[in-house]
Amino acid sequence: MEFTIKSGSPEKQRSACVVVGVFDNRKLSLSSELIDRASNGYISEIIRRGDMEGKLGSTLLLHNVRGTLADRVLLIGLGKERDFRDKEFRSAIKTAVKLLNETGSYEAVLYLTEEKVKRREVAWRVEHAVVVAMESVYRFDQMKSQPTEVRRPLRKLTLSVPQRSDLAAGEAAAARGLAISHGMELARDLGNLPGNVCTPTYLGERAQQLAQEYPDLRVTVMERPQIEALGMGSFLSVTNGSEQPPRFIVFEYNMSPRKSKPVVLIGKGITFDTGGISLKPGADMDHMKFDMCGAASVFGTLRAIIELKAKVNVVGLVAACENMPSGRATKPGDIVKSMSGQTIEVLNTDAEGRLILADALTFAERYEPEAVVDIATLTGAMVIALGHIACGVFSNNDALARAIIAAGDDAYDRGWQMPIWEDYQEGLDSNFADFANIAGRAGGSITAACFLSRFARKFDWAHLDIAGVAWKEGKEKGATGRPVPMLTTWLLSHTAATP
Ligand code: BES
Ligand code: MN
Ligand code: ZN
Repeated sequence: MEFTIKSGSPEKQRSACVVVGVFDNRKLSLSSELIDRASNGYISEIIRRGDMEGKLGSTLLLHNVRGTLADRVLLIGLGKERDFRDKEFRSAIKTAVKLLNETGSYEAVLYLTEEKVKRREVAWRVEHAVVVAMESVYRFDQMKSQPTEVRRPLRKLTLSVPQRSDLAAGEAAAARGLAISHGMELARDLGNLPGNVCTPTYLGERAQQLAQEYPDLRVTVMERPQIEALGMGSFLSVTNGSEQPPRFIVFEYNMSPRKSKPVVLIGKGITFDTGGISLKPGADMDHMKFDMCGAASVFGTLRAIIELKAKVNVVGLVAACENMPSGRATKPGDIVKSMSGQTIEVLNTDAEGRLILADALTFAERYEPEAVVDIATLTGAMVIALGHIACGVFSNNDALARAIIAAGDDAYDRGWQMPIWEDYQEGLDSNFADFANIAGRAGGSITAACFLSRFARKFDWAHLDIAGVAWKEGKEKGATGRPVPMLTTWLLSHTAATP
């Protein structure tokens, strides 16, 4: 979809559709008021009849409204004016775009971006309108033999800003929103691809393809011999049972004008998690094709950053393999040696994410990073703790956690800080190795983070457990593209903050 920014009156727009808001209860917004005046009270007449009360989620499509130059006027209910916040704004945009996509309009002018949202500027509204619009029309049908066609898909959306002086900020915000959307799209596509297509080899190929597409990006894809030479015994122990060879992907993007230390993003790339010898139960096991969504978010965030030519230094690391049972698979009780030299007793082969991240964290040391953030669908316990709304944010540096969470708030891609106090560490004690890969059932997400912290002693580090937010179940089943918005927003604010 294409986006343009404009400032002007709704009744004067020559367009297939002009979209304006109505508040609950029957209160016209500024733009619906202008349409009303131009049409000699046509809108207020309709409202008086009770066909549009302004409830959030309601819609009314009008044709040939006199006094206007558009073919259609779409009224969108915005709910109570004083309750119109982030969530309501985004939901109104989604309603409008979904409806537009189903009408005959190829194109429309959206006035909802003129409505005031508490604590948000016009740039925020434009950026989020773009992200939500793109998110709403996303479909994954590359695996269907006959893709279901949208008859007249929405191709172009013009977003209105209140004043001409808002145009520049609006355009920059639209570019940001579009880059984030493209990043999310990539992350969603990779996440939605089945495990028999999206293998570690496939991820390596996609990484190389990305580097071909964007000359600012450098990519190295390591195969088993190089991974062995690095001594990544913890990572390799997970891949033992699989016929699919592992990959360790290194992305480098160096666009900061200064020789500043990079931020390292690390993604968990388990392309399918059966649990290994500690085999998972059968129900819903297909969800474990999404166990590479952390890796997908690294791909997606890099794409967004590159598209914006952001002045940052970012390294992306993806440890990719399958977790399968077989005669060669790692067994409970096996002891493996990580790249850091620390030995690990693998008490449960289903706690594999932390085993691959451990070696990726050690590998990150060579960059003397300013900060390291790993992103992983790490624990089922995270879903129990925070549900599908916020991801868990764990960090050895509270300021880093706060900055990431603040970025998540801005991006409406939220995280919530979880503790990793020393007191949680002792659960990992082992009689046979330096420590075990699991502790008891209690606080499972926290002890998983504690395990990772033992490989992150040399830098500021944050861990995002995205198990609850990386994909949706039910009717809207599929990857969400989270936390690409949070990470991109954080990296962008980061460039702004560092002199
Ligand atoms: N990929 C899973 C975590 C997961 C499970 C995410 C369900 C989303 C939904 C991870 O590898 C795993 O299996 N974790 C185990 C750890 C346990 C064995 C300590 C879990 O959470 O059950
Ligand atoms: Mn697992
Ligand atoms: Zn897993």
